Amino acid sequence: MYEHLTTVANVPARAKVFFYSIYAAAFLALVVSLIIKPVLPWLEVAFFALLIFIADSFAIRLPKKASISVSFAIIFATTILFGPWVASLASLITVINFSDLRNKIPWYKMLFSACNYIVSAFVSGYIYMLAGGAIGKITAANFPYIIMPLSLSCTIFFITNTSLITLAIAYLYDESIFNTWRYNFQWLIPNYYALGVLGFILAQIYASSGPASVILLVVPLLIARQTFSVYMNLKGAYVDTVSALVQALEAKDPYTRGHSERVAKYAEMAAKELRIPDEKVETLRYAALLHDIGKIGIARRILNKPGRLTNDEFKRIQTHPGLGAEIIGDIDFLKEAIPAVYYHHERLNGTGYAEGLSGERIPLLARIMTVADSFDAMTSTRSYRPALSDEEAAEELMACRGSQFDPKIVEAFVKASGISLEDRKPDMEELQLKIAIEDTV
Ligand SMILES: [Fe+2]
Ligand SMILES: [Fe+2]
Repeated sequence: MYEHLTTVANVPARAKVFFYSIYAAAFLALVVSLIIKPVLPWLEVAFFALLIFIADSFAIRLPKKASISVSFAIIFATTILFGPWVASLASLITVINFSDLRNKIPWYKMLFSACNYIVSAFVSGYIYMLAGGAIGKITAANFPYIIMPLSLSCTIFFITNTSLITLAIAYLYDESIFNTWRYNFQWLIPNYYALGVLGFILAQIYASSGPASVILLVVPLLIARQTFSVYMNLKGAYVDTVSALVQALEAKDPYTRGHSERVAKYAEMAAKELRIPDEKVETLRYAALLHDIGKIGIARRILNKPGRLTNDEFKRIQTHPGLGAEIIGDIDFLKEAIPAVYYHHERLNGTGYAEGLSGERIPLLARIMTVADSFDAMTSTRSYRPALSDEEAAEELMACRGSQFDPKIVEAFVKASGISLEDRKPDMEELQLKIAIEDTV
């Protein structure tokens, strides 16, 4: 979807200004570091840069276009041992890493992530010193006095680093700042402090026993990386479960082929326009993909019947939201999606099914799904009528605002879809639009 962002020329202006500011800030931090510390322990800079490079090369992709590695622990150790100047210079190595090369990350993003590390290391390192943190080996007598600077510095690194990534994503992809941060990074807070502790231990081991002893820290760092990886694999397993269910349904009901995916896309578009928090959008996506899963329990002869259904057959079809809710009810991570599945055929005026709820008593996610589901039903071809155009379907949604659909959701969807309704003179009778809406089962 964002292939055009592989070249810097296509980056939105606001994001460009932001990227260039961070490049400039990092450049300044490096110049200041070299002015303050013209004579550096180059061998040690190289040694820690190598460690940072290895850690960064094993980064793990996060759900929202970010990635995470354990390199913070090593940058933090470098700060404690040699000060913010060496930490900033060693962080320059992150401009290149195997993980970004493998994932074909564009150069401007790789440069940004390195500059982010440089700025975060510089700022948090200075805060550490200003708060009274000692550089070099910490003696037992000193230890109580550096707990506060260490925690403060760790916090500042976390805030700077994750805020800059969040802003970059928000500006690049026009995402909500708060949602992006919360979704990508909130769960990381305890892990970051754990990495901070590991960084401190790494610094102490290095100070007392030299470079070879760093090997002792490899296992705990690998474990820390593993916790990130387990989290991401779990997310992957969720996606696999949902697609297996969708495939089972599509095998039975050819009409649903592609329908679930399109409804999910439309529902997400409306939800984003309505500024719904990301974790709710994720629930909505699962619900949309699985909204008709209950059709698995309905005879193929009814599902695939060409032409009109009898009353009894229609009643049978109307059981699919309930069946769907039952099916996903046993899957723990889909519990939140149940209401949206169960109520996806309710109408705002109370004439829908399964319960005949009306107005705001219909859960918000279900109201969004109804709009998305109806739009896709209208724009798909059926055996007894051709598909409506996007404009015709959008007009019908607008016409049924307040009776069948929630007006603010219809408006958000039409706005997000970019369908233009101006200059059109709808002829409702000619279009037989009511028939189209009745089809939405
Ligand atoms: Fe549907
Ligand atoms: Fe349905």
